[in-house]
Amino acid sequence: MSELGKKVQLDWAKIGFKYHNTDYRFRAKWVNGEWDDGELIESSSITVSEGAPALHYAQQCFEGMKAQTAVDGRVLLFRPSLNAERMHRTAERLLMPPVSDSLFINAVEQAVRANYRWIPPFGSGASLYIRPMLIGVGENLGLRPAEEFEFRVFCSPVGPYYSEGGLGSISLAVSDYDRAAPQGTGSYKAGANYAAGLLATKDAVALGADEALYLDSRERRFIDEAGSANILVLMDNDKLVTPASSAILPSITRRSIMSLAEVDLNLRVEERAIDLREEFQNFAEMAACGTAAVLSPVKKVWFDGQWHPVGQSVKTPVMQTLYDKLVGIQSGILPDYSHWVHSVDL
Ligand code: PLP
Ligand code: COI
Repeated sequence: MSELGKKVQLDWAKIGFKYHNTDYRFRAKWVNGEWDDGELIESSSITVSEGAPALHYAQQCFEGMKAQTAVDGRVLLFRPSLNAERMHRTAERLLMPPVSDSLFINAVEQAVRANYRWIPPFGSGASLYIRPMLIGVGENLGLRPAEEFEFRVFCSPVGPYYSEGGLGSISLAVSDYDRAAPQGTGSYKAGANYAAGLLATKDAVALGADEALYLDSRERRFIDEAGSANILVLMDNDKLVTPASSAILPSITRRSIMSLAEVDLNLRVEERAIDLREEFQNFAEMAACGTAAVLSPVKKVWFDGQWHPVGQSVKTPVMQTLYDKLVGIQSGILPDYSHWVHSVDL
């Protein structure tokens, strides 16, 4: 590729988690009952009818992924087939035509390759965030699915999601609002879940927290997840526990970390309901994890009108080790025994 080597000049350490209008995006259209082959386009705008179901009834979903420059210059995706699978599942739940795994992966690869100059260099602490999205377009008024759809993949270079970044610790505030009902759409990556969470995030930030923490909506006892990440808890220094809940997003990062904890760190791993108030005193370490969040230790949690510090000390050695292993594999520093990374042909 002729553009190889030429990078945009950005202060990678300071870019934060913001939108940058990069050079190309991939777009495919579903018209007359099938997906076209799709193509790379330059315009970042989408023109849709005012009757588009994505605008009225939130018939839309999305994914979040990252491409990293490896130590040897390769460009690596992390477990992209799991994003393809999750978008397929969400599309079926929202009555949208699923994008095949091959169209999904091909679209992501094309978008990453075409925006090569925007991929942050190895060691910069930044990465190229990839946002696949599926929206119901066309004209409609009554509550029924769209007849036309657009699948789009755009990219934007990003730094750490939370202000402190890297392994800087964050604080979470238990929300007065519910994120998702047990049989609702919480386990799907539907934009509607996030619209409902905007006020909860605002309230959490007003309390000085980085993010809202949701409890289960049936009993308001058990930890569900944070607004943009799943939760991990180290208990008794030898057990990594993550909430079992039908209302949370099945995080790819969380699944990977649980596997690293079990296989590489010999920790006991459990997926079960975690009663926040009953068990909080047993939390040795706590973290939020996700594509944007990576693995961010939680230093304190707001609930019942006050802040509660996590654990005995501010150090989080187990979360640090898990972070190093995860990021090491994602950036090609550590061996990838489980075949999680996917190298994009340049
Ligand atoms: N939970 C929510 C609500 C999210 O938005 C995300 C981000 O994608 C996650 C969890 C983490 O999922 P993943 O690790 O697949 O990015
Ligand atoms: C991600 O981590 O990829 C997400 O989609 C979360 C989003 C709120 C930035």
